[in-house]
Amino acid sequence: MASLLNIDVSPRRAHSFSRQLGKTFLESWTAAHAGSPVVELDLANDQPTYVDTQWIAGAFSKPEDLTDAHKSALKLSNEYIAQIQAADHILITTPMYNFQVPAVLKAWIDHVVRIGVTVNYTDKGPVGQLQGKKVTVIVASAGAYEKGSPSENYNLLTPYVKHIFGFIGITDVTFVEAGGASAVQYGKITAEAYLQQYKQQVTDAAKA
Ligand SMILES: Cc1cc2nc3c(=O)[nH]c(=O)nc-3n(C[C@H](O)[C@H](O)[C@H](O)COP(=O)(O)O)c2cc1C
Repeated sequence: MASLLNIDVSPRRAHSFSRQLGKTFLESWTAAHAGSPVVELDLANDQPTYVDTQWIAGAFSKPEDLTDAHKSALKLSNEYIAQIQAADHILITTPMYNFQVPAVLKAWIDHVVRIGVTVNYTDKGPVGQLQGKKVTVIVASAGAYEKGSPSENYNLLTPYVKHIFGFIGITDVTFVEAGGASAVQYGKITAEAYLQQYKQQVTDAAKA
């Protein structure tokens, strides 16, 4: 039975375009995977802590050397890693902020990428430990960053997210780049018309 980990990021909650497209994904995914579990992680409601000195010391200590302070600092990291390990498919809905992922999503990434846990360094270089999983990332942005366009290079989000999941072993990453939200803001199109442009891509990703 497949399982889905749904991570939402936008603080705009009900107004968020990325979350609304995520709902479309969930409807299709649950229809295609009847009875399969969905775990929800809302990073706007439950914001991750940041990596600190206890976290770093704990992450690079042997299990038998961990102090209570190390264990406490690594608790959230262990929980996030357990969630991702248990999932077959990870759905992330996120805004683009300053051409990158929002800080809460970066903080989640910093907890999930752990040497010796989700990535091992070997003689042949880093080997990601979370293989055989699928990630779908729905990104809402004011601008559009189409391939081949002059603005393509401004998009640092999708190359980074693809890279970081590959680093921990997940190479099956699909993006739905919902660009052009500024047209809604400027009253050029309705929110529904903007969202409609991406619903087929979202549905296809849910059924893949
Ligand atoms: C702090 C901040 C930074 C933003 N940076 C960018 C950006 O770099 N590029 C862009 O196209 N849109 C940017 N936007 C616009 C958002 O990506 C856009 O409003 C999107 O719809 C937000 O996603 P949401 O609707 O799921 O909340 C930014 C918005 C905020 C609030």
